[in-house]
Amino acid sequence: MLISSSFGPAAGKDDFVVATDPVRSGVSTWLRLHTYNVRICHWINVIAGGYLLLSGIHIFLDFPELYWGHTGYQGYPAIFKLSDWGISWDEAGEMGNRMWGRNYHFTFAWVFLINGMVYAAWNLWTGHVRDRLWPRRDELSSARLRDELAEQMRWGSPARATATSYGTLQKVSYVLMIFIFVPVMLLTGIAQSPSIAAAWPWLLDLFGGRQSARTLHSIGTVLFVLFVVVHVLEVLAAGAVNRIRAMITGRFRVPEEAQ
Ligand code: HEM
Repeated sequence: MLISSSFGPAAGKDDFVVATDPVRSGVSTWLRLHTYNVRICHWINVIAGGYLLLSGIHIFLDFPELYWGHTGYQGYPAIFKLSDWGISWDEAGEMGNRMWGRNYHFTFAWVFLINGMVYAAWNLWTGHVRDRLWPRRDELSSARLRDELAEQMRWGSPARATATSYGTLQKVSYVLMIFIFVPVMLLTGIAQSPSIAAAWPWLLDLFGGRQSARTLHSIGTVLFVLFVVVHVLEVLAAGAVNRIRAMITGRFRVPEEAQ
């Protein structure tokens, strides 16, 4: 077996399986790639993330302006107005359903939170975060990052297609997403709750007011959409069928050129 795995201490000879490939009707080498925990948490996360995005848009449409600081109401100087983009306040209100949005947003925020905590706790404990996600010091050199970025621009280059460990940019984006982005979204979300703000006034001070927290939460939503778009493009570039199948079944077919 020529391929070497960097998938943590658990990867041993049992992680490689030679099996008949029903599609290619030949013998293929398969690698056990993603654990049950990673796969289940990932897809729960995708469903919860989808509902959070959709329900968040509904809530936003009910009040389609953003402000900075503590104060914000219709007529107050806004830093973003949907009406500047051709959708009036009334039209936005008709497009959104605030009740549905709030119900689903709070429900899936709990799903996202509990699932995220299970994922983080389990994968910190098993060493998955340390071994697979955390970039090594030597990976973070500017030359290496520049090379990887250039490689990414060459859509689906062979080097990437055969890679069985995450690239540095991929690792950095996952770590930022899990350990910075999600906690900030959570905090800017709960800072908007009057009861939480009353109990923990420092939270509002941290973000400079309820309206600032809401604006940061909305900017985070845009970043989330960008993350998902780039993430899915990455998966497509790296071989959608093999990668998505691996995230569902846990088995990754080692590309021929790597065998
Ligand atoms: C809510 C949006 C999403 C988030 C936050 C997210 C996050 C992540 C994270 C953190 C990982 C690394 C998992 C680990 O190894 O522990 C990952 C991997 C992966 N994700 Fe997503 N994901 C999202 C949506 C999607 C979607 C829509 C797809 C389907 C195309 C997808 C397909 C994959 C695949 C195939 C991998 C493994 C990549 C590889 O082996 O190179 N993800 N995702």
